[in-house]
Amino acid sequence: MKRIQIINGPNLNLLGKREPTVYGNQSFEQYLEELKSQFPDVQLDYFQSNTEGAIIDKIHEVGFSYDAIVLNGGAYTHTSIAIADAIRSITVPVLEVHISNVFKREEYRHHSFLSEACKGCIVGFGMDSYRLAIEATLKF
Ligand code: DQA
Repeated sequence: MKRIQIINGPNLNLLGKREPTVYGNQSFEQYLEELKSQFPDVQLDYFQSNTEGAIIDKIHEVGFSYDAIVLNGGAYTHTSIAIADAIRSITVPVLEVHISNVFKREEYRHHSFLSEACKGCIVGFGMDSYRLAIEATLKF
């Protein structure tokens, strides 16, 4: 069975409540149940933290043994060289995802420190960005 770690960064614990016009009305916990039923043959583990160091620790923990990491770094995407270095330090491929189309938004969201360390990026498909990322991991 493939093992995929989903990691959500800061403020993504508030999905469903946070800026619903941008991020939708569904909590990640609700969406995760849908994802699990769509991928019954994949072990999907979920971790969320509002803390940069905790995200780095989780990347280190799973980064040599899982099949893939699906990472939404939230705002750390645009600031964190430390998370980018963590991604470069491990062997497991990381797929960067974003719910919103960051390129249609404020200019400070147009740059990601994480992208160049990631295998690929899926941006702007709402919660479906996570499903698309998991689909991609099944091909490698
Ligand atoms: C986000 C986009 C980021 O710019 C923002 O800071 C988030 C969510 C997204 O999924 O669209 O917290 O990563």
